[in-house]
Amino acid sequence: MTKAKVAVLISGRGSNMAALLYAAKAQDCPYEIVLVAANDPAAPGLTLAAAEGIATFGHSHVGMKRAEFDAIIDAELRKAGAQYVALAGYMRLLSPGFVAQWDNRMLNIHPSLLPKYKGLDTHQKALDAGDTHAGCSVHIVTAALDDGPVLGQTPVAILPGDTADTLAARILIAEHQLYSRTLADFVMRERSPQWLLAQVRAHALALPQADETISHGMPCFGITKGKKFAYFSHDHHGDGVIAVIVKTTAPEEQAMLIERDPDLYYRPAYFGNDWVGIRLAGGDTDWDLIAQRLAQSWREVAPRKLTSLIDAADEF
Ligand code: GAR
Repeated sequence: MTKAKVAVLISGRGSNMAALLYAAKAQDCPYEIVLVAANDPAAPGLTLAAAEGIATFGHSHVGMKRAEFDAIIDAELRKAGAQYVALAGYMRLLSPGFVAQWDNRMLNIHPSLLPKYKGLDTHQKALDAGDTHAGCSVHIVTAALDDGPVLGQTPVAILPGDTADTLAARILIAEHQLYSRTLADFVMRERSPQWLLAQVRAHALALPQADETISHGMPCFGITKGKKFAYFSHDHHGDGVIAVIVKTTAPEEQAMLIERDPDLYYRPAYFGNDWVGIRLAGGDTDWDLIAQRLAQSWREVAPRKLTSLIDAADEF
C-alpha cells in the first residue's frame, strides 16, 4: 500500500512534528511526512525537519492578510503532494477558505480534554478548575477554533504541586504518543473497505429511486425494481482490489479509460466491455469523479421516464 502523504504545519519548537516524523520512519507506518511548513522562517522545528531530510517551507505571515497567507501555504501543500495536513502547535487562526480546502483532511492536536479549555493557557485553566485530570485531544479541524470531531484523547493525571509548566511537560509526552497513533488510524480508516463502501453507498443512494441489494456477494446499487448501475467490489475472486464497478457510456470507453489511467481503471472480470472498475484504496480517491461516474452509470440504466423527469428538473 502506498503511504498517505502528510504535511505538518508548525509555529515553533515542533516536538509534535518530530514525534510524527520519527513514527513515520517505521516501515509499517501508513503515512509519510512530505513537508514541514511554518509561519516563522526561524521556527526551530524547521531546522530539525531539514536535518531529517524532509522538505521545509518557512514564510512569515507578518503584514499579510489571513487568506492571502493561507493561499501561499495551500500552494506549498499542493506542490508537495500532501493529502493530509497535521497542525502541530500551529498558532494561527485559519481562514474559512483554507479550512474548506482541507475539509476532513486536516487534524490538530490540542493540550486539553476537548471540549474543555479551547484556546490558550489550557494547563493553567485545568489547574484553576481543580480538575483531577488534564490531557490532550486530536480532532478534525473545522472553521471554529479547537473544535471539530474528536478522534482521540489521552487523560493525564494532575499531581499535587503541579504548575502549568510541569503539567504541560507531562501532557506533551502523551501528545507525542497520541498524535501519531491517531493520524495513522485516520489515514487507514479512509482506506478501509467499510469506510469506502459507506462513501460509495452515500453517493449511489442519493440518486433517484436507487436501492441497495447484494448480488454475486457484492453490495450492489440499482434502480428500485430495475437494473443495477454499480457494484462495490472488495477482494472479489481474491483479486485484492477494492473498487466500484460502473457502466460505461459506450463499450469503447472501457478501453479508453484503462489506457488513459491504468492505475485507476481496470476491466472487471465477468462484466463484459460496458462496465469499468475504478480502484478506491489509493487514499486519494476523487469523490467528485466517483459521484459523476455513478450518476452517468445510473443514467445508462434508468428508464427513459425517469431520466426525462430529471432532465426537466435540471432545466429549472
Ligand atoms: C503543543 O502542546 C500543542 O498541543 C499546542 O502547542 C504545543 C506545541 O508544541 N497546541 C495548541 O495549543 C493548539 N491550540 P510543539 O511545537 O513542541 O509541538
